[in-house]
Amino acid sequence: MSEGADMDQWTLCYEGYAPDDEPLREALCTVGNGYLATRGAAPEASADAAHYPGTYAAGIYNRLTTTVAGQTVENESLVNLPHWPAMTFRIDDGPWFDVDTAGLLEYRQYLDLRHAILTRRMRFRDTRGRTTAVTQRRFVSMDFEHACVADMAVTAEDWSGRLEFRSTLDGAVRNTLVTRYQDLAGTHLEPVRATRPCDDSVLLEVQTNQSGIRVAMAARTTVWRGRERLSARRRLLEEPGRTGYDLAADIASGQTVRLEKVVTVFTGRDRAISEPAAEAARWLPRLGGYDDLLKGHTTAWDHLWDRFRIEIEGRGDAQRIIRLHVLHLLQTVSPNTAELDVGVPARGLHGEAYRGHVFWDELFVFPLLNLRVPDLTRALLRYRYRRLPEARQAARAAGHEGAMFPWQSGSDGREESQRLHLNPRSGRWLSDPSWRQHHIGIAVAYNVWHYYQATADREFLTHYGAQMLVEIARFWASVASYDRDRGRYVIRGVMGPDEFHTGYPGAEDSGIDNNAYTNVMAVWVILRALDALASLPEQPRRHLTETVGLLPEELSRWRDISRTMYVPFHDDGVISQFDGYDTLRELDWDHYRARYGNIRRLDRILEAEGDDVNRYKASKQADVLMLFYLLSADELAPLFHHLGYSFDAGIIPRNIDYYLARTSHGSSLSAVVHAWVLARAHRERAVEFFLRALEADIADIQGGTTAEGIHLAALAGSVDLLQRCFSGLETRGNQLLLNPYWPESLGTLELSVRYREHPLVLRISGHQVQVAAGHGMHRPMRISCRSETAVLHPGSTLEFPSGDSRIDRPSPRDTATPPQPP
Ligand code: BGC
Repeated sequence: MSEGADMDQWTLCYEGYAPDDEPLREALCTVGNGYLATRGAAPEASADAAHYPGTYAAGIYNRLTTTVAGQTVENESLVNLPHWPAMTFRIDDGPWFDVDTAGLLEYRQYLDLRHAILTRRMRFRDTRGRTTAVTQRRFVSMDFEHACVADMAVTAEDWSGRLEFRSTLDGAVRNTLVTRYQDLAGTHLEPVRATRPCDDSVLLEVQTNQSGIRVAMAARTTVWRGRERLSARRRLLEEPGRTGYDLAADIASGQTVRLEKVVTVFTGRDRAISEPAAEAARWLPRLGGYDDLLKGHTTAWDHLWDRFRIEIEGRGDAQRIIRLHVLHLLQTVSPNTAELDVGVPARGLHGEAYRGHVFWDELFVFPLLNLRVPDLTRALLRYRYRRLPEARQAARAAGHEGAMFPWQSGSDGREESQRLHLNPRSGRWLSDPSWRQHHIGIAVAYNVWHYYQATADREFLTHYGAQMLVEIARFWASVASYDRDRGRYVIRGVMGPDEFHTGYPGAEDSGIDNNAYTNVMAVWVILRALDALASLPEQPRRHLTETVGLLPEELSRWRDISRTMYVPFHDDGVISQFDGYDTLRELDWDHYRARYGNIRRLDRILEAEGDDVNRYKASKQADVLMLFYLLSADELAPLFHHLGYSFDAGIIPRNIDYYLARTSHGSSLSAVVHAWVLARAHRERAVEFFLRALEADIADIQGGTTAEGIHLAALAGSVDLLQRCFSGLETRGNQLLLNPYWPESLGTLELSVRYREHPLVLRISGHQVQVAAGHGMHRPMRISCRSETAVLHPGSTLEFPSGDSRIDRPSPRDTATPPQPP
């Protein structure tokens, strides 16, 4: 591949300035390191219709109350922090540069996907006919998470004069990105102080006004001509919440002068610090300049990409988009995140949609982390574990037992789901019962179990995981009630993953009964909790049961429920999404498509028409089909049989056909799940959904929502389609299993994974699978592919199907690794 083509595969590039596209570009050009992230907003801009400077640090939340529609609502939000890249310039006391008024000749903005560096290049001619070229770069260090760097090189093409830079730390920012939230309070920061730790530096301290979290940023700004540091004339700027310098230097025609800004960021939530301002000031002089910091940063990214190598040949732009998705995943959660007490925010650290809350979306994210950076999953699961007491309290307050995790989680683990939401189509504030999505607990349990399957981390299971499984199982056992008429257990008043069904017509907020996904997965959780208990050695098991007060009669009730939970079916054997779903009306999909075009948010359309989506067989996203997403047919069949239901081979395609025809795909998760479930029977349709999942953010297919924050689960889920779905890769029962249904049209896949400390390189194309022992594999392991099982030795490669082509020989990249005894 030529260097140019390779660069294309590693670059997200925008040619030309388009103010209407700026919000989307800002979100997609975010640079971050899993500790903080900054939108790719123009450094000279402040918040307006085209621009939104946003910087968010993981876990920095603040609560505010507002009265809307006559009700007081409280919302906790991820706080927009001071705009650290703020910088602009002017010539000979003219107007400050502003992209919206400049006479642009050329404009190009690109994000280097390999090293998360954002570059913006422009040429413009001003009203006095002077031509100037500008290059701005920025990155947020993956190496030292408290360091951010930006620079700006200005070339006077055909003029000489006085060049003046302005560089500030701008703390006069609010949370105003999401138009739907504009009636809600958004001022989270109050200024504390601005100081000048040394001649070339300023320090800004702000504090969140409810959670009381201090945030300190210090900036060192210097001016350069080539390698020569210029003694620019400096003027200190001091305004409430804002501080910085104006720096002036002379520039001659043909010369380039560069402003360099190195920033340190610390918050009151950091570890290993005294207090944020002291650390920001102490660390700033220790850091080198742009090039020095770049070295560590690029090395850290190179190491991450070694672990996240996912190469797909063929299918147009797929490779580049996969890299974009992995990049944004790692900018939201990275090894830097593992030191923090945070979860996985559904919209990344890229915007303000859903206020930075943590949902079930980690279900779609962890499979990538488990097989590459399991320590990170462990840390993110500990975010849930620390909030177990709060979840227990929530269950008790609702009259239940065990742990009831919140649908939306923020700082302390209380339920953060909004109670009112605005339908922008009708302008009405409506009640929002999405807190009824107690299936979040199932996701937490599933994640615990799958982390354990991928890592065999018994310490985690013993000290944290088993307790979470037990408390979540206990919750479901307490929520389930025995229905004498049916002779089975039922679960009433919940919401399933499909958010269109909040209740029955006439009782829209009361939830629905017997959501099949919830009921089946509740049983799965109970069975896994029993497995976890059984797998613990006697003493830790006794300690756990004593700690949580688990009684033998509870366990026998669990077993009973696990055999007799009710699952609703339609007459033709299709699993019913919930009790009574079959009695709802069919929607005239063609009519609505013809009338509105995009009907993803059918709920909003119908409400604005005075109707209610609860009346229809219409889903926002996969609900019953989530069962086939999370569990393979090999797991589901025994589970249904255990429950006393039949599970014939035709059940999966029948359900897919039924629900696919009744889904509006109003959630970005929908494409991922549908690609997954279609992969076995309708490979080409699955590829269509896969390609749709790839488009989710880069093409903003939800129409404006990506600008408010990336859809992290869809991004990670699309990569996982390659990793686990089309490859049929499973980590189950102490084995790595492969069962590829690889679509020929996707070309060849090569990816690195780490299974229980075994580094492996998988190569899949068509029907062929190759598994090579990766760097550092030191003992043999068994691998199964379809009906074959073989042993992979260090330094060797296996091929499936074996046939004549079976090899078991040293792979070229590992010939140097001597085989070790098991
Ligand atoms: C989806 C949820 C998802 C949430 C956050 C909603 O639109 O319906 O399933 O958890 O977005 O991504």
